Amino acid sequence: MSTHHEDRIKQLLDLMTPDEKLGQLQQLAWAWDTGPGSGSTEEAGAAARKGLLGSVLNVFGAASTNALQRIAVEESRLGIPLLFGLDVIHGYWTTFPIPLAQAAAFDPAVTETDGEIAAREARSNGVHWTFAPMMDVTHEPRWGRIAESHGEDPYLTSRYAAAKVRGHQGADLAAPDRVAACAKHFAAYGGPEGGRDYNTVDVSEQRLRNLYLPPFKAAVDAGVASVMASFNTISAVPAHANPHTLTRILKEEWRFDGLVVSDWTGVLELVAHGFAEDGAAAARRALGAGVDMEMVSTTFADHGRELLARGALTEARLDDAVARVLRLKLRLGLFERPYVDESAAVTEPTASTRAAARDAAVRCMVLLKNEGHTLPLAAGPRSIAVVGPLADTGDLLGTWTVPDAQQRFPAVTVAEGLRTAVPEAHLVCVPTGGAPGAVEDADARAVAAAASVDFTVVAVGEPPALSGEAAVRSDLELPAGQRELIEAVAATGKPFAVVLFAGRPLVVGDWLDSAPAVLLAWHPGLEAGHALADVLTGAVAPGGKLPVSFPRAVGQIPVHYNHERTGRPYDATQPDEKYVSKYLDLAEGPQFPFGHGLSYTTFTTGDPRLSRTEIPTADLSEGATVEVTVSVRNTGDRAGDEVVQLYVHDLAADIVQPVRRLRGFERVTLGAGESTEVRFLLGAEDFGYWTNDPEGVFVLEPGAIDLYAGADSTARNRCRLTIN
Ligand code: NOJ
Repeated sequence: MSTHHEDRIKQLLDLMTPDEKLGQLQQLAWAWDTGPGSGSTEEAGAAARKGLLGSVLNVFGAASTNALQRIAVEESRLGIPLLFGLDVIHGYWTTFPIPLAQAAAFDPAVTETDGEIAAREARSNGVHWTFAPMMDVTHEPRWGRIAESHGEDPYLTSRYAAAKVRGHQGADLAAPDRVAACAKHFAAYGGPEGGRDYNTVDVSEQRLRNLYLPPFKAAVDAGVASVMASFNTISAVPAHANPHTLTRILKEEWRFDGLVVSDWTGVLELVAHGFAEDGAAAARRALGAGVDMEMVSTTFADHGRELLARGALTEARLDDAVARVLRLKLRLGLFERPYVDESAAVTEPTASTRAAARDAAVRCMVLLKNEGHTLPLAAGPRSIAVVGPLADTGDLLGTWTVPDAQQRFPAVTVAEGLRTAVPEAHLVCVPTGGAPGAVEDADARAVAAAASVDFTVVAVGEPPALSGEAAVRSDLELPAGQRELIEAVAATGKPFAVVLFAGRPLVVGDWLDSAPAVLLAWHPGLEAGHALADVLTGAVAPGGKLPVSFPRAVGQIPVHYNHERTGRPYDATQPDEKYVSKYLDLAEGPQFPFGHGLSYTTFTTGDPRLSRTEIPTADLSEGATVEVTVSVRNTGDRAGDEVVQLYVHDLAADIVQPVRRLRGFERVTLGAGESTEVRFLLGAEDFGYWTNDPEGVFVLEPGAIDLYAGADSTARNRCRLTIN
């Protein structure tokens, strides 16, 4: 905390009326969104003029933000600048792959670069604050917001959360190319029952702390400026009115001095939850629990005076909330530089930001299957068909793009990418899946094209509209007609590969056998087609890994690698055993496990080797570490990337432990025949766990820990550490 800022905050608080204080806690949204409570720029201007507005959401662009800012700074009594917020989730103009895809790179540098570029573009357009990164760990592929997440693992998500915060915020929030980040959604939003967005989450303290909270702690440690409350309940107490998470853990235990913002109308929704009888009670509950700023609904502003008058809101709590808003404005340097230079606004992606987005998209792709070296495409003159509903569409940016980005800067299509990469090839493109009557005809033409060329790329999967907020599916198969298309192309007997676009894990089992190669591209962002061409032609070998398990069937959900062990685990050596934890009608485990991903070359990883095989708990508690070394060799005939993964399993503990927990990963590039050693340092944090004690108790128990190293979460190379 800067004393200079704290002095300034005190001075301002002394000058402010209760209405002005409550005004700082209000965030209004511009009216392109017609949701409840959204206002207009005129309304925002009027409120700003009276000093009754702290922040605006969804106003962006240098000229628009400056115009509104001028009212706040030059026409309000105290001249406190406004904070402009926007959802910049995976790029502003330069759209990167969706966050779930980025997680598949197993390389946090990808998200740090996205964060940096997005910050530069956004801040130059007057945006100070982005509502990212999202860090909800989830075991729910039906949930559309899995696309915005980093998947099912808290360690991977934590590494990405910290990297994105660094990318957005840099060392100085006041710099003209940085924005304040927001860790969201606090907390456990990734665990909705049935996968239905906004639904109930009932969670034990240990699961809250071991699974959902670590990324938030990592973000707070990385200096994240703000945190957003989540729409769900946490064990029957809405997150927006939850003093345990917002105040006890976040503000007290973690000493977070930044701003807690509500989600869109999240405070008023306490009434719908049945947790508050009216708006006044909602404001009392939310403010009392630790929400500082209210997004869109206006219960704080409407009822704050009355709550103060009857002692239901203390001066101290109000001042603390206001101080948090002012602190962020001071950190952003808004009192000194409230406006942006309109002539310096970034208005389009540049060659270098496009190159970064392309490189990121390449790193995110996961080769799920590649029988008989189907990929990469053979070199030399040839004919290629690109067919399928996503063969020639620019709608591959993914969920949550900045308004206008999709229209102004759509993705490079698959056909366009291949046409540019292999101009010497004869390329036929047959997009399918148009108007219902035309579909069959297009499919027939697609299959005829496949029969007549040397190689076919079948571009299928989910369009972006099928994932993201409120985009929940109960069926995770390919959209209608796509399986049939794959099977018809397969029936031609000609070589082909499936390029799969998705914002979530899909059920791919039914057509997998007929497809010799499947490349998972997710929603790759602006440079989609070029990045795909890089991988399909073999200019770059794929090296991404799954950050989520792919289920065999929807009925198997949740299926995730880090599950707890039952008393009757399934044993593959006794498949006929009846009374074990299994499905009668499904093979064991997911279709593709967490961490899975192939390359155009092959790798072997050695057994993990320990710097010591025993270590006292006392040493670990004082910060001692164990070094784990894993060798990895490229056993193929071309260069490629492998992600060496390290998992731990505590064999017996006072709380049943996940069968494996990822605690280290490193992506390495190795030439043909080359090998290297990867080193991981593990300490108390990696071997201990949080108990069910609501006071927050982390324990490190003596006992045996197995460490597994390898290329996915089923790795069998193992060694044992004894903690004594
Ligand atoms: C609702 C979403 O849950 C949240 O993630 C987003 O930041 C806000 N809307 C603002 O658009």
